Amino acid sequence: MNASPIPKTAPFAAEQIEILNRVVGPASPAQRAWLAGFLAGVDAGMDAATLPQLAVGAQATEPLTILYATESGNAELLASDVAKAARKMGFKPSIIDMADLDVATLASVRRLVVIAATWGEGDPPARAMRAYAELMDEGVPRLDGTLFSVLSLGDTAYSEFCAIGQALDARLAALGGTRVAERVDCDLDFAEPAGRWIETALKALTPAEAEAFDRSRVIAVDFAVGAASSADLAPVETEIIEIIQLNSSQSEKATIHLELGFDGAALPYKPGDSLDIYPENDAAYVDDLLQAAGLAADAALRAELTKDRDVTTLSFKTLASYAATTGHQKVKALLESADARTWIAGRQLIDLFQSFPAVLSADQLRQLTRPLAPRAYSIASSRREVGDEVHLLIAAVRYQSFGRVRKGVTSGYVADQLKKGQRLRVKLRPNRHFALPAPERDIIMVGPGTGIAPFRAFVQERRAIGANGRSWLFFGDRQFTHDFLYQLEWQDALQDGSLTRMALAFSRDTPHKRYVQHLIWEQRQGLVEWLDNGAYFYVCGDAKAMAKDVRAALVRAYADVKALSVEAAEQAVNDLKREHRYLQDTY
Ligand SMILES: Cc1cc2nc3c(=O)[nH]c(=O)nc-3n(C[C@H](O)[C@H](O)[C@H](O)COP(=O)(O)OP(=O)(O)OC[C@H]3O[C@@H](n4cnc5c(N)ncnc54)[C@H](O)[C@@H]3O)c2cc1C
Ligand SMILES: Cc1cc2nc3c(=O)[nH]c(=O)nc-3n(C[C@H](O)[C@H](O)[C@H](O)COP(=O)(O)O)c2cc1C
Repeated sequence: MNASPIPKTAPFAAEQIEILNRVVGPASPAQRAWLAGFLAGVDAGMDAATLPQLAVGAQATEPLTILYATESGNAELLASDVAKAARKMGFKPSIIDMADLDVATLASVRRLVVIAATWGEGDPPARAMRAYAELMDEGVPRLDGTLFSVLSLGDTAYSEFCAIGQALDARLAALGGTRVAERVDCDLDFAEPAGRWIETALKALTPAEAEAFDRSRVIAVDFAVGAASSADLAPVETEIIEIIQLNSSQSEKATIHLELGFDGAALPYKPGDSLDIYPENDAAYVDDLLQAAGLAADAALRAELTKDRDVTTLSFKTLASYAATTGHQKVKALLESADARTWIAGRQLIDLFQSFPAVLSADQLRQLTRPLAPRAYSIASSRREVGDEVHLLIAAVRYQSFGRVRKGVTSGYVADQLKKGQRLRVKLRPNRHFALPAPERDIIMVGPGTGIAPFRAFVQERRAIGANGRSWLFFGDRQFTHDFLYQLEWQDALQDGSLTRMALAFSRDTPHKRYVQHLIWEQRQGLVEWLDNGAYFYVCGDAKAMAKDVRAALVRAYADVKALSVEAAEQAVNDLKREHRYLQDTY
């Protein structure tokens, strides 16, 4: 048996490769087969205790590569759905996170499915950026022998709808790959179209010999049986046991600390996971919308729109459907002009109805909306400290545009409508890419604003398990006096040692705005020392500016402290990512 079966190029840190080799090297074929099945089960979301035993010696034949690019986990979950279905059809699937993709290996892939989400404003998910850029670059190997199909995940509210899936689909074809099933672009309610795509794509990828496929050789793992964790991923009812605004009454912001209780045991969440909240629409907004559509008397429709439909999002697609439904000439003209996207920005569905009035039927109004999607919130507690509760930190989105005061659907629902004792439907959104390292490792946490939420969970967890690694928190908000979220808790943590260091930046307390990225630069010496010592670097919060500025500050810090060129400093930060020590959960 090869003592070092895990190659140096595997997507693990050198020390992890060494540990894996120590375990896998001397393992018997039966042990390896069990491990392969076990890991496949874990990928499919199964609980170790409920995993069925592998029929040793059984094997599937046709390799299938499932490549996914994800930020918040949807593409990853779908990748394991594809793997489950593929196994049943006799494929031997391997799932690859685009974050770990060695692009050169794609040329040897014969059957490929890609599931890619779009983020930012038409960007790849942060972790997939390197591989995506390499794939789009010159010098990528040709894919003449590769059969492929792409599923894109997106949100029609964004002007660059499903841009990354579309770009990957075009790129694979341009490199000579053969598209065996058409790409499907999914909106937020992706379950059904994705399910249909999985069926179609796998059928199209099945080799002709599949007819004669000997089913007795398929790995005998029935993933439908005992998949306990899929129940954990279903929506559940919770009770609001505490709801507190953390900012002072003089703050310009409202950030809500929410504590939820479960009827029985809490969902099995881990620090780093998020929770989806199922909101309801604002009643006054729904009334205005019904009024504008000439449907104010329809009580059943009012109830349906309030609970189940996305009645605020205005997209290019909504504009086109409205023009087709109403025949409104001015909307048609707007669509045909170059101004439609600019007109949409900052407006909602109600603006469309009020600016271009038309009387609609209940069905027409329904058709113009999509299902109301839940929103994700980082979990701000550890079960080891809070028991069967889950805590969240939610910033109320409030703004004014085109003469109308507006609120975010979910954050407005939480901040303005929910009271202690009320029920709230939630769903667990696990994130194994934002997990704590071993207790003896140091962690650096950068979380301004609500970005601090998961780090409250991290610190609680590490206190509860008596972790001996050091921890350093970078936090920022507007004003020390009004916006220092969880101030007393951090002071306690510094005192009891569960937090080693804290760096603070309050942007509106100084004449020149100071943010966490400035702290990173100022404290670069210590920061680079911690990282050289193996610390993990976590960033949570705003994706548009903060996450990019923090990365740029870290590159500058490396360049300065270690006297590196910019390219070498970039490489040092990329190495942290490759070693899974630079972890991001940004939105
Ligand atoms: C993995 C993950 C974790 C998250 N964790 C947290 C968390 O811990 N805490 C937290 O508060 N949020 C968190 N978020 C963000 C959260 O999911 C929601 O996106 C946020 O609360 C807004 O949702 P909403 O329903 O209130 O607003 P929506 O109804 O979705 O409205 C938001 C939209 O309003 C528009 N808008 C907002 N401000 C303006 C403006 N000034 N001008 C014009 N248009 C504007 C934009 O189109 C924006 O997309 C997280 C997101 C993800 C993906
Ligand atoms: C901050 C943010 C930015 C997004 N940007 C886009 C976008 O530009 N285009 C798009 O089609 N979808 C966009 N989306 C929607 C995601 O692609 C969609 O939620 C998808 O299901 C996420 O898949 P994932 O969980 O695998 O990352 C965005 C979502 C968020 C929260």
